[in-house]
Amino acid sequence: MSHIVENPADGKYLSNLPLALKALFTGYILVIGLGLLMAGGQILLTHGQADGKPGLSIDDIVYSYYGNRTGSTLENKLNGSMKANATVEERATMIKWARNGADETEWQNTIQPIVNQKCAACHSNMPTLTNIADFKIMQKIAEVDEGVEISSLTRVSHIHLFGIAFIFFFIGYIFSKAQGVHPYWKAALIFTPFAFLMIDIASWWLTKFDPNFAWLVIFGGFGYSLASTVMIVVSLYQMWVMDWIKARKTV
Ligand code: HEC
Repeated sequence: MSHIVENPADGKYLSNLPLALKALFTGYILVIGLGLLMAGGQILLTHGQADGKPGLSIDDIVYSYYGNRTGSTLENKLNGSMKANATVEERATMIKWARNGADETEWQNTIQPIVNQKCAACHSNMPTLTNIADFKIMQKIAEVDEGVEISSLTRVSHIHLFGIAFIFFFIGYIFSKAQGVHPYWKAALIFTPFAFLMIDIASWWLTKFDPNFAWLVIFGGFGYSLASTVMIVVSLYQMWVMDWIKARKTV
């Protein structure tokens, strides 16, 4: 009685995988799903705030990658979320200083006293805030805002490509064992996230140089999230729910 009969179909489809593999695939899918949600939250909290308003908009993406080239970060902030922290005259003085090239002597004579009095309470005490009481840092903030730097774009791009390719590889591999999906559809769905990942990365670079491509960033991210969600849901369903529903119907 102790020998186990091998079913030739065992392991071919998700529904009849050995329990150990189901556990492995399910654990992986759940953690990746949680990771995707966190990634979404992170995007809302970083890029989503770029235009000073909550929620992700085209402007946020333009500001993050292309920058707000109408002026320096300092000028944009003094006209935006930092407006209430200085008087009209003080703001005008600082903006004029930034536009004229952020001269160091003028910094010492007129700008630093304003910063120490009006800004330093937050900006040189809180470790998470840019220390604008430091001239070198302030000088960068006073340059025209050209968005993300090329060096950080190359870094983030390659981390993203390598890391996310792994995620899609395993999600695609698990989904390749689904049943009842036409082979063409299955192949297309497995390839889709990789295609959108390339579109996504390309769109960062295009937006860096031309703000009109910002919509493509949203399109790329949306595309691979949707394709992976479909594969995740179908895989979980076929591993755990499908047979159970069939069994209930035949009773
Ligand atoms: C009450 C605390 C507080 C004061 C006072 C304050 N700031 Fe800020 N500042 C913040 C916070 C919080 C942020 C980040 C959120 C944001 O960008 O709106 C910020 C962000 C900034 C940024 C963007 C920095 C970056 O790296 O992108 C600039 C520039 C800035 N402040 C300038 C100023 C100037 C100039 C003053 C003085 C006139 C000032 N702030 C006074 C809290 C403060």
